[in-house]
Amino acid sequence: MLRYLTAGESHGQALVVVVEGLPAGLAFSKEEVQAELARRRLGYGRGPRMRFEKDEVTLLAGVRHGRTLGSPLAIEIANTEWPKWVEEMSPAPGATAKPLTKPRPGHADLAGMQKYGLKDARDVLERASARETAARVAAGCAAKALLAHLGVSVVSHVVALGGVHVGRPGCGSGHGGDGAGGSYPRPRPEDLDAVDRSEVRCFDPSAEPAMVAAIKQAAKDGDSLGGTAEVLAYGVPVGLGSYAHWDRRLDGLLAQALMSIQAIKAVEIGDGMEISDRRGSVSHDAIVWEPGIGAYRRETSRAGGIEGGISTGEMIVARVFMKPLATLNRPVLKTVDTATKEETVSFKERTDVTAVPAMGVVAETMVALVLAQEAIRKFGGDSLEEMLYNFHGFVESLR
Ligand SMILES: Cc1cc2nc3c(=O)[nH]c(=O)nc-3n(C[C@H](O)[C@H](O)[C@H](O)COP(=O)(O)O)c2cc1C
Repeated sequence: MLRYLTAGESHGQALVVVVEGLPAGLAFSKEEVQAELARRRLGYGRGPRMRFEKDEVTLLAGVRHGRTLGSPLAIEIANTEWPKWVEEMSPAPGATAKPLTKPRPGHADLAGMQKYGLKDARDVLERASARETAARVAAGCAAKALLAHLGVSVVSHVVALGGVHVGRPGCGSGHGGDGAGGSYPRPRPEDLDAVDRSEVRCFDPSAEPAMVAAIKQAAKDGDSLGGTAEVLAYGVPVGLGSYAHWDRRLDGLLAQALMSIQAIKAVEIGDGMEISDRRGSVSHDAIVWEPGIGAYRRETSRAGGIEGGISTGEMIVARVFMKPLATLNRPVLKTVDTATKEETVSFKERTDVTAVPAMGVVAETMVALVLAQEAIRKFGGDSLEEMLYNFHGFVESLR
């Protein structure tokens, strides 16, 4: 079993993630984590924090001489702004001089204050903040390193931002629908650098300028934008997940993991939304035998690479829908001061105009973590060598 837990507040001293269940012998370095964290900071329309947020990574445990030991992996991401926050975020007994009592609509602030009996919204928002996803990305880096040995690569790209969709104009969820690669370009693993070079992590150069223009306009208006990222997992072997129990279905696990990202309001697997309007005869993927590679294939990928909760060996496709961010640079959302019960507008914590490009990187991470978890469950092994032995044996048995 692969398990991971994160700890840390947005402006606390550091974020920490502990990952347990990785096999021994996996090459892993702090530089890989740093590079992946830099990808999480990408994207036009992000606030100033992204420019000075340099993630200082320390591998605290579980790695020796560049290889995992099979013991828990612990990664620390230090907050480089900590000197400014030492007093406000001090764990020592005391009180803040500036409690936040104007909870922001669309955030965890008010429900969190009520749930935990807290009087200062900072006690909630510090943990509810998406800064926490940096710790997930660090864990996901180990998951990606493991998956690479199985020939699995996970990539993401932005397919809609602020109402601008790649591919067919006006297409509701912005996807191709016929499963044959769609009506917009889909990046392959070797294209990931090109995606990351795009200001909005979009692989369709014809859509990029309109997305950037939408962000500029929203910034001018003091508003925010949402959008959709598509995650593609290449090379996933047959047999991850199961139909045997509801909580083992791969589609269910992916949906939960992706929905757990802050501000995600919907997840679609394959052509999920579009096929709910279609007839059955044009909604599924025909099975064919390809003697050349000695494998069953699907003629299309409408199911998004999952049938009966199990990976089919085809590309896994998940689309992740993000709401427009709730904090606006123009305070228009009403709230109530919890100290006086008077109507007011919410306080403003630093905010991005949009975080859809970065969200794609976090979504990649969550997909990689689920696939690594299921790969470890299926192939097991305490060392990478043992796991690969089991993996290759299984793949051979399918021929
Ligand atoms: C990468 C990333 C960056 C985010 N940045 C912001 C931000 O700058 N401003 C904001 O209001 N929300 C931001 N969010 C979303 C909030 O964290 C989220 O809406 C809030 O915690 C409430 O959770 P919910 O929308 O899932 O209900 C971000 C989310 C992600 C994934």
